[in-house]
Amino acid sequence: MRRHTTLGEFIIENQKDFPYAKGELSALLSSIRLAGKMVNQEINKAGLAEILGKAGNENVQGEEQMKLDVLANELFISTLKNRGEICGLGSEEMDDFVVFNDKIHSDAKYVVLIDPLDGSSNIDVNVSVGTIFSIYRRVSEAGKPVTLEDFLQPGNKQVAAGYLVYGSSTMLIYTTGNGVNGFTYDPGIGSFFLSHHKMQIPQKGKIYSINEGNYVHFPDGVKKYLKWCQELDEGSNRPYTSRYIGSLVADFHRNLLKGGIYIYPKGTKAPKGKLRLLYECNPMAFLAEQAGGKASDGYQRILDIIPEELHQRVPFFCGSMNMVEKAEEFMDKFQ
Ligand code: AHG
Ligand code: MN
Ligand code: MN
Repeated sequence: MRRHTTLGEFIIENQKDFPYAKGELSALLSSIRLAGKMVNQEINKAGLAEILGKAGNENVQGEEQMKLDVLANELFISTLKNRGEICGLGSEEMDDFVVFNDKIHSDAKYVVLIDPLDGSSNIDVNVSVGTIFSIYRRVSEAGKPVTLEDFLQPGNKQVAAGYLVYGSSTMLIYTTGNGVNGFTYDPGIGSFFLSHHKMQIPQKGKIYSINEGNYVHFPDGVKKYLKWCQELDEGSNRPYTSRYIGSLVADFHRNLLKGGIYIYPKGTKAPKGKLRLLYECNPMAFLAEQAGGKASDGYQRILDIIPEELHQRVPFFCGSMNMVEKAEEFMDKFQ
């Protein structure tokens, strides 16, 4: 029987392609794998462990935190800190970035940005949630505390990015800029195994994913694009299919496998969009491009946006190349 490669084996086999500090990035990816397993364990027993529901406070963005948001955040921070490969971390769940200031950490070369639990409104109803991560080389001087500038780098400087999806099976998908690979967790063995090698998003998709309840708030370009998706046209396989889970990770994952577009536009309720550039859009954009897809804010490439603040929001159009290009045409035409 053929044995699949484990994630650990894959990281080591492929570290020759890493642009820098090979062992350190491998160790960092391994610590993300470990934290992911811990979060997975908590999510699986959430209904029994009294960790469902609200934590009773709001995060910096005024969003209600769930108990699992807080728990996942703590598990990722402590696990990443223990391995000593990062000098700082920014999280959607914290006002400011964390500086790891002791000797071991301040010499480390990487910073991490995370959305520890994505789709948290879905936790209580047993629908897929995820974790999104993004890794950069620090730009400030080694040995000194990390600065805001280390976190406000454009997405095109990401060294690695990926997500875990805690779904009908748990998977870890990541890229180091050399294609996208997916690993499925075998809970009996406690390891991730390579199940999706060199993933490619279909160029032409048929699925559009958007919270259509916000239709009245959408810009004209998005309204017109949606109507176009719903028209009858055999040549282009329309009408398309609508699928929206409400967890970016799960919606992105489905579209990556099947072909589709995910849109969270700006609207009258969310003038800059809802999704966060650093924790959500940049890592997903890096994965989309590495899989042959596209990600933009409707007009320009997500990965080229220069971030101005840690919790910056941005409109997000991401998925199959042809679909994102078509949506951009509508954005351009109907301002
Ligand atoms: P988070 O749970 O990390 O705050 O992210 C929620 C995001 C994203 O996962 C999802 O696609 C989107 O919010 C859903 O928003 P709506 O409920 O407005 O559709
Ligand atoms: Mn999120
Ligand atoms: Mn989140």
